[in-house]
Amino acid sequence: MPKMTFIQPDGSRAEVEAPEGLSVMEIAHRNKLDLEGACEGSLACSTCHVVVAPEWYDKLAPASEDEEDMLDLAFGLCSTSRLSCQIIMKKDLDGLTVTMPSATRNMMVDKKK
Ligand code: FES
Repeated sequence: MPKMTFIQPDGSRAEVEAPEGLSVMEIAHRNKLDLEGACEGSLACSTCHVVVAPEWYDKLAPASEDEEDMLDLAFGLCSTSRLSCQIIMKKDLDGLTVTMPSATRNMMVDKKK
């Protein structure tokens, strides 16, 4: 089974099994990693934001326009930022490494205020 690594906000690395067909967000949740995903993958928040290791960024399917729009709202945006609910694990991504940002902006919660 493919594996992937999450670098957590405190710098620790979690290498986990990454079943094909699951999103990176789902893989984080399965492993009880502290990655949000307020809209559960429906591109209505940016809380599942991760920063992809540069060597992996070009191997991912390009972001859709909707993803780009949501990413613009993510806190701490980087040039290799992606929404993790949109990255679907496949064999070619075995070894993928992403960094979990230390803060997110939860628009869904903000809107209710
Ligand atoms: S979980 Fe909301 S956009 Fe990914």
